[in-house]
This record gives sequence, structure tokens and C-alpha cells, in this order.
Amino acid sequence: MRNFTFYSPTEFVFGSKTEEQVGKLLKKYGASNVMIHFGGGSIIKSGLLAKVEMSLQAEKIRYILFGGAQPNPRSGLVYQGIEICKNEKIDFILAIGGGSAIDSAKAIACGAKYDGDFWDFFDGSANIIAAIKIGVILTLPASGSEGSHRTVITKEDGMLKRGAGNEFIRPVFSIINPELTFTLPTYQTAAGIVDMMSHILERYLTRTLNVELTDRLCEATLISIIEAGKKVIKDPFDYEARATICWSGTIAHNGILGVGRTEDWATHQLEHELSARYDVTHGAGLAVMFPAYMQYALDVDINRFKRLAITVWGIEDNPKAPKTVALEGIKAMKGFFREIGMPTTFLEIGAQERDIDFLVDKLFQGKDDSFGAFKTLNREDAKAVYRLACE
Ligand code: NZQ
Ligand code: ZN
Repeated sequence: MRNFTFYSPTEFVFGSKTEEQVGKLLKKYGASNVMIHFGGGSIIKSGLLAKVEMSLQAEKIRYILFGGAQPNPRSGLVYQGIEICKNEKIDFILAIGGGSAIDSAKAIACGAKYDGDFWDFFDGSANIIAAIKIGVILTLPASGSEGSHRTVITKEDGMLKRGAGNEFIRPVFSIINPELTFTLPTYQTAAGIVDMMSHILERYLTRTLNVELTDRLCEATLISIIEAGKKVIKDPFDYEARATICWSGTIAHNGILGVGRTEDWATHQLEHELSARYDVTHGAGLAVMFPAYMQYALDVDINRFKRLAITVWGIEDNPKAPKTVALEGIKAMKGFFREIGMPTTFLEIGAQERDIDFLVDKLFQGKDDSFGAFKTLNREDAKAVYRLACE
């Protein structure tokens, strides 16, 4: 195990009706002039926004509403939000929604404390050194952004999807009420399941030895997601299964499952190009890319894939044919993705094999010659993984 620092200071308030505490939590964190940032309107339709407004009014907290964050959130809205925060002297941003609303809020929060272009944080030319405090009410368990220090934004000019991260943008509190996820379309529920599983796999696929505890935590969380995932797809109102999915999504990405090891993140980078090019839902893109990546990276450590196949996917061991066992595991994962209604090929998400050169050009724009920690991928490798995703 490697040396590590684990610092994840978000206050998680979890369970039924917890959104009613939002006014009090904002007070606790010193908010007096709040921007409520959200997406395309699901929180208006569900009545959640009205409840939140009542809670803020009860605490006499001033607030403004700023909606419009779209899936794969865009830079244009971030620039607008930054202007509003500066003009209105906003001292707290409350993000309500899934990863897109939260990430958009995070980008606004750090951009509003910076004199330059906020995109500097995303192209690596500047570091985040301050941000307006952020709180979250989660409505979609998927991105883990409610507990992470990352934000992912798409720059409209050139359609570049890139991430930035720093402790300043980790939410100070996150309210997670599984009941708020009852209204999710099945497709979004399923995409969220794939996304959180991918966050674990990006950490599980490591070359670091002797990280047994985190390996087992990863496996236990994956098993829990698979079991609860099947239940929520069948019955969207299953509170206990929704609760398992919600908390799994958070711990999958707040850092605890990656401590003491190198993490990979190659598949996320491959997927972000699909989201940017085809505006595909992030989790759906991952359902296409993860089986392809695993197949490509299999030979790096067959035993790791074999262990995953046996422990998580229940494949029978065969000491004489470890590669077969490992491949069976990947097949089982692909089968699960299909079972919950996710695509697993390029064609199903509207991606084209003839676009691969374009995708790889964009992927390497502003980057080194290779990426990934588990298996180092150069341009030819990336093309090969995309080609496998066509099958
Ligand atoms: O916009 P509204 O109207 O709210 O509708 C949303 C949106 O259309 C809807 N939705 C959310 N909660 C709902 C609901 N509909 C009904 N009932 C509810 N309770 O779902 C749609 C998708 O929402 P979105 O926020 O886009 O989904 P998700 O949470 O999957 O976020 C995806 C974004 O997160 C980024 C992705 O790249 C992508 O841009 N990620 C962020 C990470 C981070 N910050 O650490 C890490 C992840 O790997 C990921 O890259
Ligand atoms: Zn993700």
C-alpha cells in the first residue's frame, strides 16, 4: 500500500425528508446570499424546488434561482453564472440535481473567485485557489460529484469536455434523500449505476500491490450496486434499494476506495470524447467503453480480472484457464449492463467507426503522448479500444 492522505470533509445528511433541513444547513455554513443552481426543470416538476424555497424562507436566507444546467454541462452557462455571482455578491451556491447541475455549480463557484477565464482551470493553465462554498441536494446517484472535488465541463468552442479538481470545490454538505430519486427515468437510473460502478473499476484496476482492504471494499460495493441495481430497475419505489444505490454512488467517488493505490481513469477519458461528440449520457458511454477497455487491458494482470470475475460476477474458478475466467467476467458485466437497459456498442449510442480518428485527435488535444496508469494508452491503443467498442 502507498502512503496517502484522505481528506473528505463533506457533511452528508442522508435519508427520508432530509431536504427539509437545507435552510438550517445553509445557516450553519454561514450562507446569507445564495444562488440555487439546477438543471432543466425536473426539480420544479417534482415539487422539490418549492420545498427548498420554503426551507430557506423559514431561515430568512436571501436567494436567487439560476437554472438551465444541461446534461454534459456547458461553459456558456458557467460564464453567465459567474457574472451573476459577482454582481449579486453571492456567498453560497446550492446545487440541486445530478452531476451536471453540481459540476456547473462547482465551475461557477471557482470561476467567480478568479479574475481570468475559468477555463484556465480545465486546460491546466491555472490552479483553483478559491471558490464560493457549495452545498448539494442530490437527485441522481451517478457522478459522485456530491462528495468529489472534481467538476467536468464541456467548452462549446471546439466541444472539449474536460475536468478540473481541487479541494476548494468539494461540497461542504450534501443532502441525499433516496426518495428524491423515485422520479428518475429508468435510463438515467441505469446510466447512474454504470457510472458509479465505473468509478470503482477505475480504482480497482491498479498496479499497486497489497491493497487488500480497498480491493475488498471495492468488491463489496460493486456487489451491492449490482444487487440493488436490479431491484431499482424492477421497482423504482424500492426505498432500501434506492438508498443502497445512493450511498454506493457517493462512496464510489469520494476517494475512500482509491486510497493507497494508483488509479487509472483511462476509460473515463475515452468516454468523455463520446459525450462531447455525440452528447451521449456519460453512464451510457461508459457501458460501451468499459467492456472494450477491459478486454484490451486484460493481459496487464489477468489475475486481477479473474479475481473480479469470481468475486463480483460469481464466475466459477478454473485454475487451468485464468484468461477464460477473466473473459467470462467481462461478458457477465456486459450482460448486466444490457439487462438494465444500457447500450454496449458504438452503434447503439449513434457513434460511428469512421469517427475514431476524430475522437482520438480530440482525446489527445492538449495532452501528453499517452495516458492511463493501469495500461498506458497511446494514440494507436486508443483507436484499438474504440474499435473494440464497435463490436
Ligand atoms: O436537468 P433536469 O431537468 O434536472 O433533468 C435531469 C437530466 O435531464 C434528470 N434528472 C436528474 N434527477 C432527476 C431527473 N429526472 C427526474 N427525476 C430526478 N430525480 O436526469 C438527467 C441527467 O442529469 P445529469 O445531472 O446530467 O446526470 P449525471 O448525474 O449522470 O451527471 C452527468 C455529468 O457528471 C459528470 C459527467 O461527465 C456528466 O457531465 N461527471 C462528474 C464527475 C465529478 N464531478 O466528479 C465524475 C463523473 O465521472 C462524471 O464525469
Ligand atoms: Zn463517471
